Amino acid sequence: MKQNYSVRSHPPKIFVIANQKGGVGKTTTAVNLAAALAQHGQRVLLVDLDPQGNATMGSGIDKRTLMRSVYQVLIGLADVVDARQRSESGAYDLLPANRDLAGAELDLVDFDERELRLKAALQPVLGEYDFVLIDCPPSLSLLTLNGFCAAHGVIIPMQCEYFALEGLSDLVNTIRKVHANFNADLQVIGLLRVMFDTRVTLAQQVSAQLEEHFGDKVFRTIVPRNVRLAEAPSHGLPGINYDPQSRGARAYLQFGAELIERAASWSPASRPAPAGAAVATRPASAAGPMGTVRSTNTAGAGPESSARFPTSPEVSR
Ligand SMILES: Nc1ncnc2c1ncn2[C@@H]1O[C@H](COP(=O)(O)OP(=O)(O)O)[C@@H](O)[C@H]1O
Ligand SMILES: [Mg+2]
Repeated sequence: MKQNYSVRSHPPKIFVIANQKGGVGKTTTAVNLAAALAQHGQRVLLVDLDPQGNATMGSGIDKRTLMRSVYQVLIGLADVVDARQRSESGAYDLLPANRDLAGAELDLVDFDERELRLKAALQPVLGEYDFVLIDCPPSLSLLTLNGFCAAHGVIIPMQCEYFALEGLSDLVNTIRKVHANFNADLQVIGLLRVMFDTRVTLAQQVSAQLEEHFGDKVFRTIVPRNVRLAEAPSHGLPGINYDPQSRGARAYLQFGAELIERAASWSPASRPAPAGAAVATRPASAAGPMGTVRSTNTAGAGPESSARFPTSPEVSR
């Protein structure tokens, strides 16, 4: 079912998919969201910013045979126009990566404004896309910082387990610092519950706590644990193309539609929010990356469970 949404106004929405933990579903989200947005009629560029090159392989492009990759782009040896490739299976463009990228951290040390390399490199092609998605490595490294500096928003995929919450507060603190020091446009677009297993009580408790504390920063879509999503990369296909009828595929297609809907009413954090967008107690321009901050104490909040939310008393919404 193709839907046509009217978010063709430029510049494109640039979202980074981040979580400093590995194996939480970043790449699966990046690849399937790219393919879902494409199915919804959007023009998408997916940037693989992880030396593991999993998003590249999952898009059907062999990381071992790349002539040019995001690595050459970051260090100024290639343009995005020459390095990008078409993912025929996903119907989006890909700026691919392979293990060369592992050397970028060191190579970038010699550059001025090294955290802005990706942002600068993407500029010439931004007019060609409705969405740019950036798949990050599992670290808060210079590569991830380049992703944060190039983006308007962060999408955080997370599993609903206790330690995921602990990691979330570290990530949100990092995003706060980037917002304050490097990129005032950056905001958390939302938390995406992935690999969700409804039979696990803890998952339901953590999910309920996320909704309570982060409100509409939690995406409505929940991506279930679904083996078809895990099988798809070995076929060089996004899961939504590998088995379109699977529960995982349908969830990511729905997530694409939800993101398009949100993006249509979204405004960068550094600009004033539209009237009535939030019950702000201070100007939107001073709001943090989570948007308007609620000063609610978490103590005693939420259902009684072992999964107490481990952030500071300042709960963000
Ligand atoms: N919803 C899901 N259901 C089942 N397996 C999943 C799901 N999402 C991701 N996986 C699998 O979990 C593993 C880690 O996912 P991945 O997207 O590579 O995480 P990350 O990029 O954060 O390291 C992969 O083997 C992937 O196929
Ligand atoms: Mg990954």
